[in-house]
Amino acid sequence: MPKSPILLTPLLLLLFLLSSPALDAAENGRAALPRGQQQQFKEAPEFYNSHDCPIIEPDEILCSDAAVHVAMTLDAHYLRGSMAAILSILQHSSCPENVAFHFVSSASSNSSFLQSTITASFPYLKFRVYPFDDSSVSGLISTSIRSALDCPLNYARSYLADILPLCVRRVVYLDSDLVLVDDIAKLAATPLEGSTVLAAPEYCNANFTAYFTPTFWSNPSLSLIFADRKPCYFNTGVMVINLARWRAGDYTTKIEEWMELQKRMRIYELGSLPPFLLVFAGRIAPVDHRWNQHGLGGDNFRGLCRDLHPGPVSLLHWSGKGKPWARLDANRPCPLDALWAPYDLLQTPFSLDS
Ligand SMILES: *[C@@H]1O[C@H](CO)[C@@H](O)[C@H](O)[C@H]1NC(C)=O
Ligand SMILES: *[C@@H]1O[C@H](CO)[C@@H](O)[C@H](O)[C@H]1NC(C)=O
Repeated sequence: MPKSPILLTPLLLLLFLLSSPALDAAENGRAALPRGQQQQFKEAPEFYNSHDCPIIEPDEILCSDAAVHVAMTLDAHYLRGSMAAILSILQHSSCPENVAFHFVSSASSNSSFLQSTITASFPYLKFRVYPFDDSSVSGLISTSIRSALDCPLNYARSYLADILPLCVRRVVYLDSDLVLVDDIAKLAATPLEGSTVLAAPEYCNANFTAYFTPTFWSNPSLSLIFADRKPCYFNTGVMVINLARWRAGDYTTKIEEWMELQKRMRIYELGSLPPFLLVFAGRIAPVDHRWNQHGLGGDNFRGLCRDLHPGPVSLLHWSGKGKPWARLDANRPCPLDALWAPYDLLQTPFSLDS
């Protein structure tokens, strides 16, 4: 259908209605109605295994050790980011049919909506949606740090060992504001030697002290937990987790114990990250920094755009306040947002008739 000015006017209005103010509100306040229910996503192409991929029966993939298991949270506000992440994983995977997706969504969200939206765009995807009982964790989130960025679903990554079936023994956890430009099987195969539970890119130049309060550091019975290790900051948006060892060591309880303590005395400022640092920093397997080029969200409040860190890139992560979809919609993109755009499945008014 040819686009005429007359046709464009309602389309522009629709674009305006779908554009950034609502997404910004959703991103920052999470109070707006799920905009996702008005969004239309395109169908992604089908992706095929190369000839040397292990053969897994389709109905066994969600439980197979030969599959690459990916865990992500799913929520109507971030759906556009999740969809782009899924597409990027499939597109760069040499065995895309062997990737199993485990989506965790809030028990109070409309899981049939999320499920049908995923299926409509990825009819061949091997996935399951698991409900996460936010109320169980909201009692553990200290009210002083509870904020828009600190929604209970952020804590789902601490409960993957309980949420995912026992047959899933290793999982790659990924945030929803990232895209891969390399084969996820390489990340999933990160060696976890000895009793190592978790692998992530470490940043030993970051000021580790700053993640905890003076109360924490001045109390030897607390700060001594780092005495026999060399703790470094790591970002929990990209992690490879051995779930079998996590379950055996009951690391969920260890994380919850720190959250309980945080409720009684303020030992850190941020939400879901510090308990991970307390339990795992200095004890993780390293992952090459190419797998988490983080911080690309920059600080859109002050209009700052981040550049890539030096070195090769396998994963681009828009951590920080600015999300590429919101900036693109607002016509204020950062240069690197152009690398996210090719994975955007949202049907914009301009692509409706394509
Ligand atoms: C949940 O989503 C389904 C599918 O999109 C829709 O038909 C249904 O009305 C929704 N339910 C609620 C309670 O919003
Ligand atoms: C690290 O952070 C702490 C607490 O915020 C601060 O007191 C200290 O000066 C910082 N160290 C460096 C090297 O920046």
